[in-house]
Parts: sequence; structure tokens; C-alpha cells
Amino acid sequence: MGKLKGHVAIVTGAGQGIGRGIALVFAKEGAKVAIADRNAETCAEVTEYIHNLGHEAIAIICDVGDSTQAEAMVKEVGDKYGSIDILVNNAQRYVPRRLVEEIEDEDWDKSIQVGLKSTWYCCKAVFPYMKEKGGKIINMCSGSGLIGLEGRAVYCATKEAVRAFSKTVAREWGKYKINVNVICPAAITPATMFMKNTDPEEYARIVEGAALGRWGDPENDIGRVAVFLASSDSDYMTGQTLVVDGGNIML
Ligand SMILES: NC(=O)c1ccc[n+]([C@@H]2O[C@H](COP(=O)([O-])OP(=O)(O)OC[C@H]3O[C@@H](n4cnc5c(N)ncnc54)[C@H](O)[C@@H]3O)[C@@H](O)[C@H]2O)c1
Repeated sequence: MGKLKGHVAIVTGAGQGIGRGIALVFAKEGAKVAIADRNAETCAEVTEYIHNLGHEAIAIICDVGDSTQAEAMVKEVGDKYGSIDILVNNAQRYVPRRLVEEIEDEDWDKSIQVGLKSTWYCCKAVFPYMKEKGGKIINMCSGSGLIGLEGRAVYCATKEAVRAFSKTVAREWGKYKINVNVICPAAITPATMFMKNTDPEEYARIVEGAALGRWGDPENDIGRVAVFLASSDSDYMTGQTLVVDGGNIML
């Protein structure tokens, strides 16, 4: 424990699911964590939970798909803690499953806004804090994007756009010692439980296809890999994609 001692981390969409798991394990590893989520209730719950464990966290209710709110959120963290070392772009807006010929314009706008552009807003806002002393950026993408998935064109394209964006940022900011890497996770979260009800075949396909035969845990399976990418253990790694899905997709 203590791999992130004294580091300041922002996790977007940390009110539940994978973001929550990453925030908890970051806090346990000694980081001061900003829980940035648009859901006031879950944002407060996770922050209180971390406080009760004796660790440091701040709740920031914000829509990271709004550039003004994303910038204000980052500034609030910088003002409170004096630095920002780690950014996890995890928030994603989901759109209904539709075949390509049925996709609506609005679907693209929603997914790109909270997914791709939110990632850009937050990266841009943390850059002044990371430029002088380096930093770690982790962007959450998806195995769905890696392989393509029927009915999920908008989601897959958004996530692959985030991956392409991440590689470019890694190249541009490598000289500042800012590492940018991607995780493609699979974990039990409120979003996957929703999928279990609405799309049981897809839910079953994922777990049946996993060599390890189970869904991941947000904190212990995904969060531990995020700690690796956020710590000095991964200093020589940038622009990479780690698939953390129990051995479903094997590159
Ligand atoms: N769970 C999986 O198996 C899985 C698989 C592949 C990829 N992913 C990716 O991992 C990430 C997390 O997934 P999850 O399953 O935990 O999702 P989730 O829906 O359970 O949680 C997402 C969180 O993001 C917050 N959020 C949404 N829009 C926001 C906004 N505009 N501003 C601030 N917060 C916002 C929500 O309030 C929620 O707390 C997503 O990027 C998702 O695409 C997850």
C-alpha cells in the first residue's frame, strides 16, 4: 500500500461502477482523490465512504461534457490540493442500441460529448498542472470498440476515437513526462447490470468468452491495473492499451 502516497488524482464518473472502484483503490494507496460525477448523491456517498476509511477525497458534482464545468472542476482540485498528478477519464454517456441505419444524429452528439470531448476538456484543463512535473492520464475505452459490436456503432466509434486521441496526446506530451494509457475493462457495474436485463445475450457472451470465466471487480481487478498505470511502475509505458477483461479479447 502507498504506491500513490501524496499524489492528487481526479476520477471522472467516480460515483459508481469502475470509476468508484478506481477512486477507492487510489485513496487506499494514499492518493487524494477528486470524485467528479454529475450524480450528487453517489458523488457524496463515495466521498463519505473514503473519508470513513480515513483517506482524503473531495466530491465535485459536475457534468464533464460541459467544458466550463470540466475546467471549473479541475481548477477546484488544483486550488484545494495545489497540484494534479493523475487524471482518469472514465465518464461515458450511453445511447440506445441501434443498427447503423437507425442511428439518430442526437446519439452521436451525446456519446461524443460525454466520452470523447469530455476527455479532451479534462486533458486540456490538467495540462498546466502536469506540464512542469509530469503526470499520468488513464482513459477508459472498450473491448467493444476493439472488435466492433452489432448495434453499438456509436459507442464503439466513440471509444476508438478516445483511443486514437490518447495515442496522439501520448506523443505530444511525452516530452513533459505525461504518460497517457488506455484500459479496456470488463466489470460488474450498474451499467453492466442494466445490460444483463436489457441484453442478456451480450451479457452472457462476455462472461462465457472470458478465459477466466468471470466478470471483473471494479476495485480489485480494474482498480489495481489503474494503480499500476498511475504509479511510477509504468513510467516507461505510454500510448498503450491494456485489455482487462478476464481474457476475453486477446491481442
Ligand atoms: N463496465 C464494463 O464492463 C465496461 C466495459 C467496457 C468499457 N467500460 C467503460 O468504463 C467506464 C465506466 O463504466 P461503468 O460500467 O462503471 O459505467 P456506469 O454507467 O456504471 O458509471 C458511469 C458513471 O459516470 C457518471 N457520468 C456519466 N455522465 C457523466 C457526466 N457527463 N459528467 C460526470 N459524470 C458522468 C455517471 O453518473 C456514473 O456514476 C465507461 O467509460 C465505460 O464505457 C465499462
